[in-house]
Amino acid sequence: MNQKLVEQKVNGIRMRALIAGSGPPLLLVHGFPLSHQMWLPQIEYFQSRFTVIAPDLRGFGNSDISTGIVTMEQHARDLDMLLQVLNIEDPVSYCGLSMGGYIAWEFWKHFTDRLRTLILCDTKAEADSEEGITQRLKMADLVLRHGPEVISTAMIPNLISESSLQKQSHISEYLISMIEATNNEGIAASQKGMAARSDFSNQIKNIRIPTLFIVGSEDLLTPPEVMKQMCSQVPDSKYFEVSEVGHMAPMEAPDAVNQAMDDFLSDSL
Ligand code: MLT
Repeated sequence: MNQKLVEQKVNGIRMRALIAGSGPPLLLVHGFPLSHQMWLPQIEYFQSRFTVIAPDLRGFGNSDISTGIVTMEQHARDLDMLLQVLNIEDPVSYCGLSMGGYIAWEFWKHFTDRLRTLILCDTKAEADSEEGITQRLKMADLVLRHGPEVISTAMIPNLISESSLQKQSHISEYLISMIEATNNEGIAASQKGMAARSDFSNQIKNIRIPTLFIVGSEDLLTPPEVMKQMCSQVPDSKYFEVSEVGHMAPMEAPDAVNQAMDDFLSDSL
């Protein structure tokens, strides 16, 4: 299959993305603090019918790092510029997980015409509480001082379900290796960006494109009730819950998630 890793100059940084296949564009936006590699099962599945674009966001994977703070809007602007330099003119199906979902709201706000459909996995629309912000800033400081190893193992129980932990230990190993390969500054900058993100909970009712919400039944960070509530607010939306999996549904249950995305895209495109 036609897959290539490209590097493009995007808003002053070098951004790396995996491009695979041909057909309507499907943009896969990873969660925190990961890289495009979390989407390998989706890339494999969709590349026969879509142009799959799976970037490493600023500060992650093999893309350049910005220090300080990287806002969700900055990530959305990077994605828009990446699509421009790749000459992707058709509106995209945007699929984002968690932080990739926070970025989706900004992308929708600033680049509505670039969107054909939205797929939101394990994410939420509201901003952080005061306590959440404090926790994030503490975590950013810890990572800056000691590196990603201090958080990687501790994050796993929040990322995957108990059942995935027991039956699919390769997933936790893979997640730990992705997190530990990420630069301190890159993690801290997006962590601060998430702490400062806008609240979209009163705006998502204005989304006017087909939207799919996917969530793991045991997602502790963005639980099914949160995703159902969002789905009920978006007019043309569907909800899909995957049993026995956690926050990383596309990695933990790739077959079920691919099928749900495929059904949705077949109906919507
Ligand atoms: C993610 O998976 O992207 C993170 O859990 C997002 C967050 O920390 O809120």
